[in-house]
Amino acid sequence: GARDIAAADLVVTHVEQRKSPPPASALVFGHTFADHMLAIEWTSAEGWQAPQIKPYGPLVLDPSSVIFHYAPSLFEGMKAYKDVEGKVRLFRPDMNMKRMNTSAERIALPTFSGKELIKLIAKLVELDAAWIPSEPGHSLYIRPALIGTQAALGVHPTTDALLFVISSPVGPYYKTGFKPVALEADPARVRAWPGGTGNFKLGSNYAPGIRPQMEAAKRGYQQNLWLFGDEHWLTEVGTMNLFVVLKKGEGIEIVTPPLDGMILPGVTRDSILALARDHAAGSIALEGVPQQVTVSERGINMGEIQQAEKDGSLCEIFGAGTAAVVSPVDRIGYMGKDIHIPVGEGGVGAVAKAMLQRIQDIQLGRVEHPWSVLV
Ligand code: COI
Repeated sequence: GARDIAAADLVVTHVEQRKSPPPASALVFGHTFADHMLAIEWTSAEGWQAPQIKPYGPLVLDPSSVIFHYAPSLFEGMKAYKDVEGKVRLFRPDMNMKRMNTSAERIALPTFSGKELIKLIAKLVELDAAWIPSEPGHSLYIRPALIGTQAALGVHPTTDALLFVISSPVGPYYKTGFKPVALEADPARVRAWPGGTGNFKLGSNYAPGIRPQMEAAKRGYQQNLWLFGDEHWLTEVGTMNLFVVLKKGEGIEIVTPPLDGMILPGVTRDSILALARDHAAGSIALEGVPQQVTVSERGINMGEIQQAEKDGSLCEIFGAGTAAVVSPVDRIGYMGKDIHIPVGEGGVGAVAKAMLQRIQDIQLGRVEHPWSVLV
């Protein structure tokens, strides 16, 4: 059959002159790129070609290339860290590989061995290790992408594809500590729907969210709270998964919408759920979080949020994603009124704060955990 990706076939072409990474303080998310990139071509006749690491640079594609017309395009977001001993680590790369293959399958792009691609990403990151900032909260953001490249205008499965991986040194999402964001919840705007593609990481899911975000910004809200259906179910926030913390009896309930086909299966989402369950079971202790925790993957709608605000049981709402890890929310504009969320001291609630701390401890190897993989 057609060949799979084989890390052993890697061909490396080094840059002639290495660039110097900018000072960490000058970094803007995704604006600067490390010296090298990984590229792997695929054809339906032969399968995956020999992987290449080469200088970061432009692609040359036909204007008829399917990517420019019908959007066969998917991507991943992951990060490499320098740990306390200066060693390079990845965070749950197997999750990104699994999702990348799921996305590829959905839009008829070729799938591949995730194990082999992790080996190649590790090589790329090792080669550009000087681009991994070691300041607190900094990392090298890794962007794998896969696009259809056949030069043809018919709407059919592509005969040619290109998988590439680039990387970008990034700082903490918030320059000045945590700044909670305000969301606009407009039921007329829909990000995903049953049977749609909201649960895949496709480029085509993101462009349609940009104008609603601009419009929310005009009214003083940074991000959209994406709702679905007549009951106004909460789904996601901006480009992140969503968590709600409610008082429940003597303890709390941590709620996130279920993976019902409209929700992106986020790596940070999954990590927060696992840590919350470990905490509830007593196998770890998250600082500042009550021992009695119910972890719920369930639907939650705006009616319940309004009721919780009224009866004082609404504790926290936060977004969760690779870029920011967690992003606290302090206000939601909904049906002409603002709902206020009592984010804690420093603009971040106890659960969001504990999750951020624990995830960063694991990412940096301060806490040993199988999620953190040495390169
Ligand atoms: C995330 O990591 O939260 C994202 O989805 C960000 C990416 C689309 C830039």
